[in-house]
Formats: sequence, C-alpha cells, structure tokens
Amino acid sequence: MKIRVLLLTLVCALATGSGFAADEPETELGGKMEKMGGAFRALRRQISDATKNADSLARVATIRQNAEASLKLEPAMKAQKPAAEQKKFVDDYRADMKKFLELCGKLETALKANDNVEAAKLCGAMGDANKAGHKSYKKEDKKK
Ligand code: HEM
Repeated sequence: MKIRVLLLTLVCALATGSGFAADEPETELGGKMEKMGGAFRALRRQISDATKNADSLARVATIRQNAEASLKLEPAMKAQKPAAEQKKFVDDYRADMKKFLELCGKLETALKANDNVEAAKLCGAMGDANKAGHKSYKKEDKKK
C-alpha cells in the first residue's frame, strides 16, 4: 500500500514538473538574463548594508560575467526588425550593454571602498539601465 502511495506521489511530481517548462528562458540570452535577475534582486535588497559588501561583490561579479556573455549574443527582437536596420539594432544593444558593464565596474569600486551611499546610487542606475534596455531590445512578453 505504501509503495502505491509513493508511486502515485512520484507520478504526480513528474506530471506537474513538466509545467515548469513554461518558465524556462526561451533563448541563450534569456538564460544569462535570468542569472542576472536572481543576483540583482538580492543585491538591491542589501546594497546599503555595509556588513554584506562581500556578498554584494559576489552578486555584482555574477551580473558582470553574465552581462559580458550577453555582449556576444543578439536579442531575439532583431528578427522583427527590417533587414536594413538589424545591424544598427545589434550595435546599439552592444553599446548599451557596454555602458551597463561600466556601471558594474563602478559599483565594484564603490563596494570595495565601503561607500554604500555611492553603491546605492549606482544600483539605482543599473535598475534604470535594465528598464531602458528592455524597452528598446526585449520583445513584448507573451501572454501566458
Ligand atoms: C540589472 C540588469 C538586468 C537584469 C536584472 C535583467 C533581467 C532580465 C530578465 C529576467 C529577462 C527575461 C529572461 C527570460 O526569461 O527570457 C531579460 C531579458 C532581456 N534583457 Fe535583461 N536584464 C538586465 C539588463 C539588461 C540590459 C542593460 C539590456 C540591454 C542593453 C538587456 C536586454 C535584454 C534582452 C534583449 C532580453 C530578451 C532576451 C532575448 O532577446 O533573447 N537587459 N532580462
């Protein structure tokens, strides 16, 4: 009897597990962004807390590494642009991602200096860059 209950639980877990696929990033760039998202959420919560600066530096490193990898990739939205505009679209995306990387570097400097006031400002600027970057280069979310 116990075995049957266990088996039923396993079957249910496997069946509902397939539902998670809907939240998987759909592109390689989306995967890098998801990793940035997790690190940025934690960073924002603790950016003013100087006792967490070592952990904050680790989060910025995750964001920077994934932003560097994102530089080599192209937004899916490119395919929606007319052929004549695609090169400029990708060039603009890369230029904005480079500016975002400069913010990451400045934030690392501020955290190493334990300047949490400056770090909080830079973290806000990164949030603005996130919004602007998505407005220009990210396809509209599909209705789920
Ligand atoms: C703190 C900074 C940022 C965070 C936390 C962030 C986070 C995210 C997240 C969670 C997604 C959805 C991923 C998915 O499930 O598919 C996404 C997508 C995307 N983001 Fe960001 N992002 C940031 C900055 C930027 C910047 C600066 C740019 C552009 C210069 C950018 C361009 C994009 C694009 C183009 C997509 C769509 C993916 C694709 O086209 O394949 N993001 N981002």
